[in-house]
Amino acid sequence: MKVLGVSGSPIKNSNTDRALKLALESTGLETEFIKLKDYTVAPCQACLGCVKTNRCVIEDDGILLAEKARAADALIIAGFTPYSSLDARTKAFIERLYPLRHTYGYMAGKPGGAIITCAVPGDNNMLPPACDFGVNAIKFYMMEEGMDFVGEVRIMGNVPCIKCGHGDKCAMSGITMLHGPEATVASVGIGAFEEQPESMAAAVELGRNIARTLQAK
Ligand SMILES: Cc1cc2nc3c(=O)[nH]c(=O)nc-3n(C[C@H](O)[C@H](O)[C@H](O)COP(=O)(O)O)c2cc1C
Repeated sequence: MKVLGVSGSPIKNSNTDRALKLALESTGLETEFIKLKDYTVAPCQACLGCVKTNRCVIEDDGILLAEKARAADALIIAGFTPYSSLDARTKAFIERLYPLRHTYGYMAGKPGGAIITCAVPGDNNMLPPACDFGVNAIKFYMMEEGMDFVGEVRIMGNVPCIKCGHGDKCAMSGITMLHGPEATVASVGIGAFEEQPESMAAAVELGRNIARTLQAK
């Protein structure tokens, strides 16, 4: 049994990556971690050139990654939410799994899960629910392919303004937008996955659910 984990976060050893690694480790199975930044994956061009062959016509790393997804017994997709929707790398990866759909439904029946890092606090109703949008993009892909969605992880990440060096001076700072007019770099601080017990527990649970579902098959 092999579980494939794919992270769209471009930041080195990011919150998203660490959560995905914990979920993979928690399966107790053979796993592979993929960082999409290390690959070139163009979005689907909707040409339907994959319908008869189950292989994309775009000769980039999307071919290899689709093969890895096809060969895996389970799939965890992890991303983040720039401008309140799933990041472009993760979305392009999902689109490039379309060749696996035709006639055979190669992903159908496989357990899957979603991991999303977003920067909108749960109690902020004035901003788009970025985490929901990110989780749903992955979850609905899995539903549409007939996969068995067994869990999700939400992580409170960092708006880039926390680290950019201008966070307390910039008129466009996302810190006050997200956390209120009095918020500062120091008062908000840097959010780490390991300091979020609910997210840690959800990652462990996701891994265990994947293993349980596979063992029950
Ligand atoms: C260009 C850009 C725009 C962003 N916009 C949003 C946003 O609209 N909503 C949100 O929740 N997070 C937003 N973020 C913050 C990311 O979700 C955050 O950087 C995330 O913590 C990155 O995950 P990581 O720590 O795993 O790398 C944005 C980040 C970038 C780089």
